[in-house]
Amino acid sequence: MKILIELIYLISSIFFIFGIKNLSSPKTARKGNLYASIGMLLAIVVTLFDQHVLTFEWIIIGMVTGGLIGTVMAIKVQMTGMPQMVGLLNGFGGGASALVALSEYFKITPAITTDTGVAIVLSLLIGSVTFTGSLIAFGKLQGIVTGRVVKYPLQHPLNALLVLVVLAAGAYIVVNPDMPEFLLMIVGISLVLGVLLVLPIGGADMPVAISLLNSYSGIAAATTGFVLENNQLIIAGALVGASGFILTMIMCRGMNRSLMNVVLGGWASAGIEGPAAVSAAHKGTVKSVDAEELAMLLDSVSSVIFVPGYGMAVAQAQHAVRDLMNVLEKKGVKVRFAIHPVAGRMPGHMNVLLAEAQVEYDKLYAMEDINDDFPNTDVAIIIGANDVVNPAARHDQSSPIYGMPILNVDYAKTVVINKRSLNVGYAGIDNELFFYPNALMYFGDAKEAMVKLANELKNL
Ligand code: TAP
Repeated sequence: MKILIELIYLISSIFFIFGIKNLSSPKTARKGNLYASIGMLLAIVVTLFDQHVLTFEWIIIGMVTGGLIGTVMAIKVQMTGMPQMVGLLNGFGGGASALVALSEYFKITPAITTDTGVAIVLSLLIGSVTFTGSLIAFGKLQGIVTGRVVKYPLQHPLNALLVLVVLAAGAYIVVNPDMPEFLLMIVGISLVLGVLLVLPIGGADMPVAISLLNSYSGIAAATTGFVLENNQLIIAGALVGASGFILTMIMCRGMNRSLMNVVLGGWASAGIEGPAAVSAAHKGTVKSVDAEELAMLLDSVSSVIFVPGYGMAVAQAQHAVRDLMNVLEKKGVKVRFAIHPVAGRMPGHMNVLLAEAQVEYDKLYAMEDINDDFPNTDVAIIIGANDVVNPAARHDQSSPIYGMPILNVDYAKTVVINKRSLNVGYAGIDNELFFYPNALMYFGDAKEAMVKLANELKNL
């Protein structure tokens, strides 16, 4: 029986590995999701039959309640609210790992071996930090908690001290297991640490923080796997931890942030004052165009780069953009898409939307592959993007996005910016691009604006 169970755990792990492999490309992502789900189903069923931890009544009550809440959340959440939801789920994962480790402690004390003791302490530390850190990240993305860079006195010495206290208390418990007060103190301090580490991270850096918390939730699960001596949990947790960490590194590179900056909680967040304090009043006026004028301009060009952003997702304009692309291509225009790594509100957001609208993958270019082409491009058309094309990132050291690589749209011969107003984007800062001499504002909801433009262009 034991061998059969381990064998099914192994098969489930293989499903996880193939799942993650397939999730790394939009073409195979659906298949990857299916493989990972099958792996999870196998793991759950085997664990339920193997562990006999509780009566099935309690397990069914838990599954139905959790399943209902999850279903309602998944149905209700807007595509644009996905990062918050992912953030929240990371937090629940970390919290669950900590609770399991805690209950295991009370179940087996005082007969705790050194390695189990170490695993329990690590699980409580990482799981609790993940829980409260993710709640703060959720609050920041949802606008409940300030998105500003929050600085407090002695930030780093205080955090270092708290970590040291947790480690010292942890070491004491490993040697003298029967000390539940110390264990609860570890939980309490770790919960506070989660808040203190994420609070300083500015809104513009939140995508990186979310993926790091995702990695933490995996590591917490893996350490809980050691507590329970469950290989499947160790493997699944390690996979989540490692893939979350790789994503964090990719995002750090995309945002030009050091990993330490995020791990230590806004060690060197650019823009000390944070978005709310920045309100550069731009001098000059913007030039705006209507659909007819823009169609006349586009009728005589040979190359266009579309730059989609969060506004395209809000307006669900991807199909209209695809139609406009078709009209332009029929006129012999070379059309490509430039995708910034943090455009929208979640990794791969733009790729997913454009894939849904059947825009071919080979037309989508990552920032580093297309940035040098803007000077040779007739028109860059920005659709609901703002921060990812804000030139302040290149030169304004007080800006919260300073140092983040941006798409060089201003180097194109003409930049057309479609959005509804001159309002700010996620980072809450003005965009000088709108006032550049080669910039044309095309105001309106992205979907309506693209439909109108395509119709005007068809009639020429
Ligand atoms: P943003 O800078 O957030 O700008 C989006 C713009 O879309 C807004 O300025 C808004 O201007 C416009 N907009 C909203 N609704 C629209 C509509 N219906 N039609 C047309 N335009 C509309 O977007 P971005 O350039 O994609 O940058 C993403 C930002 O989000 C970055 O700061 C990034 O750090 C952050 N972030 C990213 C992620 C990930 S992983 N991608 C996760 C969390 C946060 P109007 O109001 O004037 O229309």
